[in-house]
Amino acid sequence: MSIPPNIAQVVAEFAILGEIANVQKVGSGHINDTFHLQNTDASQPDYLLQRINHQVFRNVPGLMQNILRVTEHIKTKLPAAEVETGTLTIVKLHDGTLFHKDHDGNYWRIFHFIKDTQSFDLLTNTQQAYEGGKVFGQFQSMLADLDPELLAHTIPGFNDVKYRLDDLEEAFNNNLAGRAADLKDEIRFIAEREDVMCEILKLGDEDKLPWRITHNDTKFNNILFDHKGLAQCVVDLDTVMPGYLAYDFGDAIRTIINTAAEDEVDISIIDLKINLFTAYAKGYFAAAGGILTPVEVDSLMMGVLLLPYLQAVRFLTDYMNGDIYFKIQHPEHNLQRARAQIQLLKKLEENQHTLQQIIFDFAGRRA
Ligand SMILES: Nc1ncnc2c1ncn2[C@@H]1O[C@H](COP(=O)(O)OP(=O)(O)O)[C@@H](O)[C@H]1O
Ligand SMILES: [Mg+2]
Repeated sequence: MSIPPNIAQVVAEFAILGEIANVQKVGSGHINDTFHLQNTDASQPDYLLQRINHQVFRNVPGLMQNILRVTEHIKTKLPAAEVETGTLTIVKLHDGTLFHKDHDGNYWRIFHFIKDTQSFDLLTNTQQAYEGGKVFGQFQSMLADLDPELLAHTIPGFNDVKYRLDDLEEAFNNNLAGRAADLKDEIRFIAEREDVMCEILKLGDEDKLPWRITHNDTKFNNILFDHKGLAQCVVDLDTVMPGYLAYDFGDAIRTIINTAAEDEVDISIIDLKINLFTAYAKGYFAAAGGILTPVEVDSLMMGVLLLPYLQAVRFLTDYMNGDIYFKIQHPEHNLQRARAQIQLLKKLEENQHTLQQIIFDFAGRRA
């Protein structure tokens, strides 16, 4: 693509080096619009331009400050040769601001483009799972000595189960789409597990579980792999904020352990890829084992159960509200997604002892 005039105008606001030769759309991210800007000068960096989805991210200044703090901290931990390739690098505007707001109200930012990397929507083997666990573990361990209170809670209540259950109850009571009466089984399933699922919050409230800096979008396509297939770094830091480690662990496992799609209609084929779980946990403990407190080790399995539960709650809420948050491809899509998460959770519960033992083995503990 040659350079569209609106993009040239946006780029002119930023303190880039060299000149842009070419613009290409990248990635399969569902949130932001992302472009690769090639430099005419090979001795200068290529850039990654993103239009930030400010419908999803309401606090763009807080979000960019969070990314700056986190990436600058990570850079102090990286070997000199990896400072540019081991985390994102923000390019500021000429006046030092971290983002540009255009006349239409769009927010834009630029990072250095990290060359010769690729990301995958789905992982296919245990080596990748191990690498994924390791790189998210490294991310958390490099941030273990940065005070989480320095970061803004850019999406309040993001993984807070009580807050999500309140939303569910409100949706049930409002019954805007007239669907609540059909969901008795699903609502009962959610209600039966309420106490167990609040355990992480309870440990946090009792100060037994420390706040940490968490990524909150530990999907596989947010990892950049090098040409040898080794994980190089974690990207997509929009949701970085204070949280509990178990949230990141649980969400990563939720997305890799399922033998079927997140919205699988035939729930009988939903099962667990325990080999990928084991590999991810192994990589995670190799990198983050040293920072985990004993209660955090205990919390990991709670996170594995909690994240599909939270997702089911969110899909059910949206279904009852008439599908206003998640994009749907057909009218029953959110219900189908909720049922698939519930089935995944049933499988996780059936295999809880095995999964717990795998975690404890890596932590050097007995169940
Ligand atoms: N700094 C970077 N250098 C190279 N590629 C990147 C960089 N940041 C992101 N990407 C690629 O672009 C894709 C989309 O970016 P991401 O920040 O994850 O957007 P979204 O929020 O839409 O998921 C990523 O999955 C990754 O493949
Ligand atoms: Mg992404």
